[in-house]
Amino acid sequence: MVTTNIAVGSALRVHEVHKSFAVPDAPGTTRLALDGISFSIAAGELVSLVGPSGCGKSTLLRLIAGLDFPDAGELLVGEEKILGPSAARGLVFQDPNLFPWLTVRRNIEAGLVARGVLEAQRHEVSDFMRLVGLEAFANSYPHHLSGGMSQRVALARALINHPKVLLLDEPLGALDAFTRMRMQDEVLRLWENRRTTMLLVTHDIDEAIYMSDRILVMTPAPGRVDRKIDIDLLRPRDRTSEPFLRLRSQILEHLHFAGTAADVSA
Ligand SMILES: Nc1ncnc2c1ncn2[C@@H]1O[C@H](COP(=O)(O)OP(=O)(O)O)[C@@H](O)[C@H]1O
Ligand SMILES: [Mg+2]
Repeated sequence: MVTTNIAVGSALRVHEVHKSFAVPDAPGTTRLALDGISFSIAAGELVSLVGPSGCGKSTLLRLIAGLDFPDAGELLVGEEKILGPSAARGLVFQDPNLFPWLTVRRNIEAGLVARGVLEAQRHEVSDFMRLVGLEAFANSYPHHLSGGMSQRVALARALINHPKVLLLDEPLGALDAFTRMRMQDEVLRLWENRRTTMLLVTHDIDEAIYMSDRILVMTPAPGRVDRKIDIDLLRPRDRTSEPFLRLRSQILEHLHFAGTAADVSA
């Protein structure tokens, strides 16, 4: 039994967010990347964001992480405006970005060291390694780990900060199909255990339906949230059930009519 405190998630609200970037090959001009994005995520909800490459998913996550700022609009966690990065908003990328010269334990501790809270939280490191099933690998180095195990380290490293919101940018995108399905169950288990609010970016429609309470479908040029789809299927979900497959074809058809089906299935 893991004894770590439960970090109950916070609600997240994105209101009329606009963001444009300078166009590198046309000096003086800008291109709209996000065009009036609005949605809310309830505390403890798991929501996926799907859409083709370039529609602004990572840009949106960076804004929520506080790594960049919108041109207009508002982002709030609970009642608080997002004004910069915070350990309360964890971010996990496709590349686990581990320090190759540090052991698994030291990689998980690294964020605590940077924040000057290692002494206060050292007792939790073993709990979090156990939570993600890595206790036997505490002294291993990243090059000894498989892709799935490296991603478990990245998840533990984010979760040890007790984030109120966990932002996942295609975290399973580099894994083979079988490891990916196992890790989907793993992330769901962590979510149920921690009750952290999660926003998961994925290219994979099946992954989004399998995991989420709700799916936000984004369309590109400029990036917009085009549809919000509630997934009411009971968990654990059967990827071959008729309602699952019906949702899948609805979403694919929708993206096809938005002219992006080829990108999405890539
Ligand atoms: N720092 C940046 N400078 C200029 N353009 C950017 C920058 N970040 C993202 N963009 C542009 O914004 C759009 C959305 O990118 P991104 O959020 O990475 O999409 P996604 O994650 O959905 O693939 C793209 O057209 C991309 O080229
Ligand atoms: Mg991206």
